Amino acid sequence: MTAIIEADGLGKDFVLSEGPLFRRTRRTVRAVDDVGFTVGEGEMVGYLGPNGAGKSTTMKMLIGILTPSRGRVRVAGLEPSRQRTRLAARIGVVFGQRTTLWWDLPLRDSLALTRHLYRVPAADHARRLAELTEVLELGPFLRTPVRQLSLGQRMRGDLAAALLHAPPLLVLDEPTIGLDVVSKSAIRGFLLRLNAEHGTTILLTTHDLGDVERLCRRVVVIDHGRLAFDGDLAGLRATAPSPRTLVVDLAEPAPAIAAAGARTVRVEGPRQWLELSGNPAAVIAEVARSHRVRDLTLREPDIEDVVARLYARPAP
Ligand SMILES: Nc1ncnc2c1ncn2[C@@H]1O[C@H](COP(=O)(O)OP(=O)(O)OP(=O)(O)O)[C@@H](O)[C@H]1O
Ligand SMILES: [Mg+2]
Repeated sequence: MTAIIEADGLGKDFVLSEGPLFRRTRRTVRAVDDVGFTVGEGEMVGYLGPNGAGKSTTMKMLIGILTPSRGRVRVAGLEPSRQRTRLAARIGVVFGQRTTLWWDLPLRDSLALTRHLYRVPAADHARRLAELTEVLELGPFLRTPVRQLSLGQRMRGDLAAALLHAPPLLVLDEPTIGLDVVSKSAIRGFLLRLNAEHGTTILLTTHDLGDVERLCRRVVVIDHGRLAFDGDLAGLRATAPSPRTLVVDLAEPAPAIAAAGARTVRVEGPRQWLELSGNPAAVIAEVARSHRVRDLTLREPDIEDVVARLYARPAP
């Protein structure tokens, strides 16, 4: 496997000045601390963690807009902060919360300008623009000024802009943030296709566990700036085992059910959620003996539960 991203002992501190003028104190925030991971060519990796964990800071070091305080990072064989311009030709970057498109220009003009930015030969640019216009379905709004686009349309435009120079690596910071279900699904489908058909390596941060389940065979999790997990989804489930849940629909509302081997974690009218630690059959039998039950469902933990438990673990 050829590595396209290599981070080793990577760290970033921010120094904050706090308090009133003349009595300012300086405080150091360790945003990223001793993070190491490698991404191979053609991989699709999710970079996860709770708010403030250090995901965006890591992304910014990878693309060269922040200089690491410690450690080593190489992307596409280059040192990002020192070789930012050369690196720009090798990567596509999309920050979901910000656009790189010109706000007042029609989308088409923004996309035309990227050709000069990256010095793409005209014929290659035209061919890729046609391809991206088709798969991202940009046709209907190519002539619309960017500021008039919906968030989903804008995101598709941003993806096209990031990919017109055919970079082997795409770095995405929350690419589906704020999008509706249909737009999310379109973006996910596009990324899967890009990875499968062009072999583009994709590294993305997201809070959307649908993105993770659909897109990421491998996840790297950071918490408080430190690496908490690196592996596949099955491995992630095994690290932070989550209990199964028994959803009980009673004939009428009742106080929280008390049953051995279960803990009632939520009550909503006649419906109650019991987290199981013991044998499900025994719990079900006990609940059925003590209550009039309409319906029972046993729910396996989903990736959302697993990640929530992982984030909830105390900092190392
Ligand atoms: N420019 C900055 N100056 C000072 N502190 C910063 C700066 N950028 C980030 N931080 C701090 O570094 C820590 C990590 O922030 P970062 O933006 O990397 O988190 P994140 O994992 O991307 O979070 P989110 O999920 O909310 O986007 C936070 O404590 C944040 O307040
Ligand atoms: Mg962030």
